[in-house]
Amino acid sequence: MDLQQRVIAAYHKRFDATPEFIARAPGRVNLLGEHVDYNDGFVLPAAIDRVSMIAFRKSGSPNSTILALDMADETSFDRQSILDRQNSNRAALAHWARYPAGMMWSLNTEGLDTPGIQAVFASDVPRGAGLSSSASVEMAFGVAWEELGGWTIPPMRLAKIGLQAETQYVGLNCGIMDQFASACGVKDRLLYLDCRSLDWRAVSLPENTILVIADTSVRRSLTGSAYNDRHASCEEAVRILQGFIPGIRALRDVSVEQFQRFSNRLPEIAARRAQHIVEEIARTELAVVFLENNDAVHFGELMNCCHTSLRDLYEVSCPELDVMVSVAQSLPGCYGARLTGGGFGGCTVNLVDRRSAKTFARQLALDYKHKTGLKPEVYLCQAVDGAGVKKI
Ligand code: GLA
Repeated sequence: MDLQQRVIAAYHKRFDATPEFIARAPGRVNLLGEHVDYNDGFVLPAAIDRVSMIAFRKSGSPNSTILALDMADETSFDRQSILDRQNSNRAALAHWARYPAGMMWSLNTEGLDTPGIQAVFASDVPRGAGLSSSASVEMAFGVAWEELGGWTIPPMRLAKIGLQAETQYVGLNCGIMDQFASACGVKDRLLYLDCRSLDWRAVSLPENTILVIADTSVRRSLTGSAYNDRHASCEEAVRILQGFIPGIRALRDVSVEQFQRFSNRLPEIAARRAQHIVEEIARTELAVVFLENNDAVHFGELMNCCHTSLRDLYEVSCPELDVMVSVAQSLPGCYGARLTGGGFGGCTVNLVDRRSAKTFARQLALDYKHKTGLKPEVYLCQAVDGAGVKKI
């Protein structure tokens, strides 16, 4: 049974009724521009063919009842109870329930109506693997409530509302990349986003290349704290650099040359973190030029540099990610390999020659297993369109 059939069947079983709609929102993989979204930088993600799906209809009451199939858990809440992060029985919301509840809260904050929903959801975006499973849940509930509430907003606005749910309700001080990619994805394209102006355009992969995602099977012991910590170091660096470079608002405003001139004014850790950000923003701006010139070789080299920088300067890698990347980089047909997403476990992204892709994937899985004793999942990935709803 595929994902859609599973949520529909579970809906029948749980509610003894037929769902009216299916919402679908993809996860994402990021090719370049890692940890720069919350520094106003440039990112280059794609929405991927791993999605969260919700079978749903109006509940007909102010109460929402949501069954999370993957968690084998259910919750009920309403717009009042979620203000205290509680379910309708006034008990604390389960962690997973904070994503739909946070979305409802955030939509309400924006004055958008969220009628009670009766829903079953499931996802094949692996959790905690750096592929934005949480953003895909947020965006799927976002479009579901758009359907039920009878209002329409542009996908970028939905992404911003999802970001608000994540930062203010769930408590991860992240940037907009994940919600953006899940809401605005374009089939067969990467998305090049300026995280300050929110201008973006779709870009093609180099000819005859394909993305391969490799899951180390190590799950980040997130790390909300390690992530928020990195964010805080970036802010600290900006505060100090403002004393030397007037007018800067974010690390996005610091050039590589300026950074080299003033980095010795920063505490050691903030200096390392900021170096990654400043150089990564420059790499991403260059990378998009390579992409538009169909230059897989130079683009891939920048992906490799990005991994080294995430490992040594930003310190968000882990031994298993490093093994997965170095094995990939040694295999024929691989242009570039690096960890993708927040880090501390999860997946790598590989840009691979289409003709070698299957052999590459097989060999990468074998060598990784041999070196770590862990069983990875390696798959060829397609870019897909962003979140949407269809009537069943
Ligand atoms: C997580 C966050 C994103 C982004 C990435 C790292 O996925 O949700 O906003 O910061 O990490 O690039």
